[in-house]
Amino acid sequence: MDQYAVVGHPVSHSKSPQIHAMFAEQTRQAISYSAIEAPLDDFEGVVTTFFQRGGKGLNVTVPFKEQAWSMCNVLSDRARLAGAVNTLYLDQYGKLCGDNTDGYGLVNDLIQQGICLSGKNILIIGAGGAVKGVIQPILNEAPASLTLANRTKSKADELVSVFAKQGSISSLAFEQLSKPFDLVINGTSASLGGQLPDISSAIFSVETVAYDMMYAKGDTVFNVWAKRNGVHTALDGLGMLVEQAAEAFFIWRGVRPKTRDIIQVLRAATA
Ligand code: ATR
Repeated sequence: MDQYAVVGHPVSHSKSPQIHAMFAEQTRQAISYSAIEAPLDDFEGVVTTFFQRGGKGLNVTVPFKEQAWSMCNVLSDRARLAGAVNTLYLDQYGKLCGDNTDGYGLVNDLIQQGICLSGKNILIIGAGGAVKGVIQPILNEAPASLTLANRTKSKADELVSVFAKQGSISSLAFEQLSKPFDLVINGTSASLGGQLPDISSAIFSVETVAYDMMYAKGDTVFNVWAKRNGVHTALDGLGMLVEQAAEAFFIWRGVRPKTRDIIQVLRAATA
């Protein structure tokens, strides 16, 4: 049976094994998918051993996405620009190939939920590994503007310089945020610690859609804050998680699983 796994540190919380088991059942693919916790100092060793033993594909999660990128012999365009890889496999010549399906996951989740990005003014908060992967796919949807704001502004500036040729993108410091956006995406890891980025609530209006790339039982701290400031539509990252997994499954197996029922199952399980 073809072997797949997610590699991270920690990884025990990962829903990827459950999601891929549901994809496999739905599409009648005989695969096994496990979770591997790599030591912080030996991610490369774990990846090499996995493929030497005949493994077919890996997903990569925190904190190894940049290391995975550095290891690859072949990168997809979206992975090359993202500087981070979340999907690994070997090509027919045995070369290690890397892709990044995070941005596809975010954009496709938004589209599935009826949120159009074209012509919109979009704010992304954060400039870390999670954000890098989503910029190009968002710019591909032709928003009116994409603004990056990060606590450490220089990191947002760096990303703007990488993607400047790809569309209308600029950066602002937290204290410069003073008007509402059509879509506000929280890509910081602040919610993991139950914290909010130190930003004015002026970024929200009743028309704003808030999207937290994290997910939680009930609303995330960020989405509670958004709703308290008048936002009606506040979505979390569970849909993104399933959509990015579906794209990885498609890369590996050539079959695209249906996602919406699976998101409902996971939502019910976390409720
Ligand atoms: P990830 O891979 O999850 O993106 P990361 O690369 O370490 O992790 O990036 C974390 C992001 O969350 C960064 O943009 C970080 O801001 P800094 O670059 O200023 O560190 C942001 N972040 C984390 N905690 C935050 C907080 N309490 N308030 C605002 N931003 C926060």
